[in-house]
Amino acid sequence: MPTAAPEPADATPAASLVPKLSCKNLWKVYGSNPQHWFRDNAVTTDPVALAQGMRAKGLIPAAVNVSFDVAKGEIFVIMGLSGSGKSTVVRCLSRLVEPTYGEILLDGEDLLRKSARELIEIRRHKIGMVFQNFGLMPHLSVIENIAFPLRLQGLAERERRSRVEKVIALVGLEGREKSYPHQLSGGQQQRVGIARSLATEPELWLLDEPFSALDPMIRRQMQDEFLSIQRKLRKSIVFITHDFLEALRIADRIMLMRDGQIVQIGRPVDLIINPADEYVAEFTRDVPLVRVLKAADVLAEKVPEGSAALPGVDAETTIEDLLPMLAGRHDGLSVTRSGQHIGCVTPTSLIDALARRADLHGAAMRGTKSPAVGDAG
Ligand SMILES: Nc1ncnc2c1ncn2[C@@H]1O[C@H](COP(=O)(O)OP(=O)(O)O)[C@@H](O)[C@H]1O
Ligand SMILES: [Mg+2]
Repeated sequence: MPTAAPEPADATPAASLVPKLSCKNLWKVYGSNPQHWFRDNAVTTDPVALAQGMRAKGLIPAAVNVSFDVAKGEIFVIMGLSGSGKSTVVRCLSRLVEPTYGEILLDGEDLLRKSARELIEIRRHKIGMVFQNFGLMPHLSVIENIAFPLRLQGLAERERRSRVEKVIALVGLEGREKSYPHQLSGGQQQRVGIARSLATEPELWLLDEPFSALDPMIRRQMQDEFLSIQRKLRKSIVFITHDFLEALRIADRIMLMRDGQIVQIGRPVDLIINPADEYVAEFTRDVPLVRVLKAADVLAEKVPEGSAALPGVDAETTIEDLLPMLAGRHDGLSVTRSGQHIGCVTPTSLIDALARRADLHGAAMRGTKSPAVGDAG
């Protein structure tokens, strides 16, 4: 075993450092006898070449050596165009789709080693799923749909009723308890889907394009409610979307996929300011920069001496609000967080940050491979 780095005195207990979910070198290959390709652990050498070899033989590598962690309480967003492998990955996480190779660790335990029976228990108790097309049972009322997984859990009626009431209030469906799915709007149906997935009190919450079928205004409202639910429940979440603006609103971190592979994992602002390539830059093209970027995102790399003495501005100030303050201030402003000086922003540092993006956008425009962002996923 490698020697562990020395722990600082105030380290969090080791248990809390274990990610809630860890996906390691995950492959899903559709086609005949995909296992054949993994005999000699060839994955570790050159996954991209391996995937190319598979494609040349008519197989479909839908997830190519995908690795990521989701922390407790984190909203981890998977993005990518239609066909990039998002649904495949999220389904592999609960083994609704059987991975071809790799490890899926939930609380440090490998799901791929679980028996069918253990897996059913894990899915019933630990994992909640929400789908784009709601997936409700048409012949069951709202209450019955939500109570369905609780019956599978074997909960007594009293407990079922109290759980159902709780989640119905949580998603704002009071008064619609007896309705059937066809009597509800799309937004209301998805509320039922959300309530049903939360009724079992899962720790890992998987949502595959939950709002993509909804009208833009309803979608925004659902995003707000989703965030308010998450503030109360603090689930560990994997959320799929093909809409970068949606990802921007809700993500702690974003993983961008293309052709089954990870292109970049980072905070939304990392993808905006330091896109890994033109593909990422193109994805973030429609982002209203001046409203999204904050003073803390455009700090000067070299901090001029004495900059702490400059007039201060809070780290969370948007560029929109920063611009008028910065106009005519060549020496810049001190940026503070909770009153602490964390760096300095100057007209040059701001232009530098924006220019890096413009560079990549220029490249994306000239390139041939610009993705059709906004394509349904
Ligand atoms: N059951 C299947 N059999 C064969 N190919 C599949 C199957 N499911 C998905 N695929 C292929 O895997 C790739 C990724 O699909 P998917 O994960 O659904 O992408 P996304 O959710 O990003 O739109 C696509 O090329 C798709 O055609
Ligand atoms: Mg999909």
